[in-house]
Amino acid sequence: MSDGSFLDGLDYPETDSSPTHTIREGDARDLPVADDSVDLIFTSPPYWQKRDYGHVDQIGQEKTPDAYVSKLMEAFEEWERVLRDTGTILLNIGDTYKNKSRVGVPWKLAEAARQRGWCVRSEIIWKKPNGMPTSSTDRFINRHEYIFHFTPREDYYFDKFGYKTVYDDPVDVWEVPHDRNDNHLAPYPEELVQRGLVAACPPAVCKSCGRPRQRIVDKSLKQLNEDRPQARRAMEIFEESELEDDHLRAIQATGISDAGKGREVQNGTGSNTEEVLKLADEAKDVLGGYFREFTFPEKTTVGWTECDCDKPDTIPGMVLDPFAGSGTTIEVAISMGLSAVGVDIDPPDDLRRFTDSNAII
Ligand SMILES: C[S@@+](CC[C@H](N)C(=O)[O-])C[C@H]1O[C@@H](n2cnc3c(N)ncnc32)[C@H](O)[C@@H]1O
Repeated sequence: MSDGSFLDGLDYPETDSSPTHTIREGDARDLPVADDSVDLIFTSPPYWQKRDYGHVDQIGQEKTPDAYVSKLMEAFEEWERVLRDTGTILLNIGDTYKNKSRVGVPWKLAEAARQRGWCVRSEIIWKKPNGMPTSSTDRFINRHEYIFHFTPREDYYFDKFGYKTVYDDPVDVWEVPHDRNDNHLAPYPEELVQRGLVAACPPAVCKSCGRPRQRIVDKSLKQLNEDRPQARRAMEIFEESELEDDHLRAIQATGISDAGKGREVQNGTGSNTEEVLKLADEAKDVLGGYFREFTFPEKTTVGWTECDCDKPDTIPGMVLDPFAGSGTTIEVAISMGLSAVGVDIDPPDDLRRFTDSNAII
């Protein structure tokens, strides 16, 4: 299990109550979960005509891909009920070959959801550097699956800055190897879930209105990119000098060139343009060419939004996996301090270990 070190630097706010973790027996199309209580559904349904779970109400063994997709659409309708207004779905799905052809199940699913009013916000390619060998000699080896980000409304929670802090480029191709010790039921590696939860599950939501706290990001004055030797030297010169923060603000207001915006506008120092230019000139005299380093400081988290409620207590964000299987989603949510509910039509007994009461209800 992850040691949680990927959380370093995320600057998550503390919440007023502790996370809750439950596992429930139930159908993904008729969830034992309250309305408007979930911030993120992270899941992987049984793929079409792959593993037979042997349950009369299971999804996955339908005769046609269209019948399979329409069952998943029933589930989507139910999922919309349990999602908060700002909640979203990240759904991992792979395809099936029939008569040598890809059936296109992921594409059918995305189109069906789109036609029902869901926004297909992203189609993430999960690129697998390791995978099962194939005996086919007349096609490329399949090394990817999809993760669709479905959003029901325009205003939803998404922490691109947090994601970038941990994983660098927030792009829609995720190269994530399968964990070596995956048990046979685990559909995906922990890192895949971590990426999704960092991006799309708020660490804190208002207990009264359910609005997620949003990260507030701003340019810092002095936090430079320490990977750059020039930036480190610039900081040293600044620390050793008699320059003050107002000098740095003046540099940031004027930018690399003395022409342009900085000459024309007031800046945050409250001084007039002439004063800003004077401060910038003084700073440039001391810093020499290193002054440029202060014109592109790193952005940092300066706080999290509040809401207007009378009782602004917060609870941890809630993750739901309606096809909980071996519980990877729940396990990762717990490691991140989030609340989680796992539902499965036939929950494996060892899922109890993830619950607060050691019971499956
Ligand atoms: C994690 S998912 C599928 C993982 C992976 N994508 C695959 O195809 O093997 C498997 C779980 O879904 C559960 N399941 C199947 N049909 C279900 C349904 N209608 N509602 C809830 N859970 C269901 C099964 O019991 C199983 O534990």
